[in-house]
Amino acid sequence: MMIDQSNTVPPLSKIARELAPSGIRRFFDIAAKMHDVISLGVGEPDFVTPWVIREAGIYSIEKGQTTYTSNYGLLELRQEISKHLDWLYGVKYAPDNQILVTVGVSEGMDLAMRAILDPGDQVLVPEPCYVSYRPCVSLAGGEPIGVATRSEDHFRVTVAQLEQAVTKRTKAIILGFPSNPTGTTMPREALQEVVNFAHRHNLYIISDEIYDRLTYEGEHTCVASLENAMQRTITLNGFSKSYAMTGWRIGYACAPVAVLSAMMKIHSYTALCAPITAQKAAIEALKSGESAVTDMVIQYNQRRRLIVEGLNLIGLSCHLPSGAFYAFPSIATTGLSSEEFAERLLFEEHVAVVPGTAFGEGGAGHIRCSYATSIEKIEIALERISRFVQKIAPEISSSPPAATLR
Ligand SMILES: Cc1ncc(COP(=O)(O)O)c(C=O)c1O
Repeated sequence: MMIDQSNTVPPLSKIARELAPSGIRRFFDIAAKMHDVISLGVGEPDFVTPWVIREAGIYSIEKGQTTYTSNYGLLELRQEISKHLDWLYGVKYAPDNQILVTVGVSEGMDLAMRAILDPGDQVLVPEPCYVSYRPCVSLAGGEPIGVATRSEDHFRVTVAQLEQAVTKRTKAIILGFPSNPTGTTMPREALQEVVNFAHRHNLYIISDEIYDRLTYEGEHTCVASLENAMQRTITLNGFSKSYAMTGWRIGYACAPVAVLSAMMKIHSYTALCAPITAQKAAIEALKSGESAVTDMVIQYNQRRRLIVEGLNLIGLSCHLPSGAFYAFPSIATTGLSSEEFAERLLFEEHVAVVPGTAFGEGGAGHIRCSYATSIEKIEIALERISRFVQKIAPEISSSPPAATLR
């Protein structure tokens, strides 16, 4: 007898079936359907891309610049990126063969993993960290090894922790400082120790520096500028955060020639090139976006101080984050898990935050609050969080902080 297969289709790939959905999305989807929600959930600037940059994009369209570009990206953009990194960090990448313009850091991370990993290779991933790191390793056939950082270390990764996690199969380590979700930055000396560790074990370092310009205490250290780092580091960066350009989908990867040419081969088949309009706008960002960056950093800094002070007053202990635009308070004293806290806060007080567990090991007992939103909204959110904490754990909350916060 013939089996009727008209209603069946082959199974999806094992890797796609096993890939966990992002823990952030679930909360956005619920919040989007609710009325009057204040979102401290999103990880993107609330600013619009500065006008000079938008204008450059518009003008390029008006001129009819609507084609593919070189797979590497426009030479002029690569030259500007090269100058920019030299100016900021004294790091020298050749525009011809060490810089690849990508569809954001997101694509850069995927390319980096696919270029360096063979099936079964392990990658050390200090956590909590940005949600794409683990999946990018897995999608490239590698095995992500979470290394939980600790609140008492301000979520900085230590060499002792890395030494415990490294094996013969370890091929790379991913660094993401300033960190999403903790706002942690790593001092230069501590990063040098991590580079020395990578050098000792002959590992690649993939350094996601997308928040480099959003550093409020001290100066950002570009990992590639450290001793022994250049030959093993893939630097990923982009325009999404510093220039409020998330929707343009533009970033770049810099690496030693052999690594970059492997990444470029994959990119040429899978993306071909980044959108030309975004590339034109990015050139303008690097040429004349500096004052806009400074203005945005001043505003983020005011919000940072307000939210951290408010959270601590409420009784949710929170380190002052030194970079990015996230506060990562502990909610352990409330007796709720981070998922319960985030879910009840959303339903009962209409404030969206992300549970720390969405960012991997070490995130439990914390929530991520993005302060990429207006002072007014942060003040209202703090009042609501305060009311919520007073309700569930009155013993940890001092007198109503609402008046103090205003
Ligand atoms: C640490 C980190 N890396 C990468 C990205 C994605 O960057 P892009 O917009 O350049 O793809 C984000 C976005 O939130 C991020 O927080």
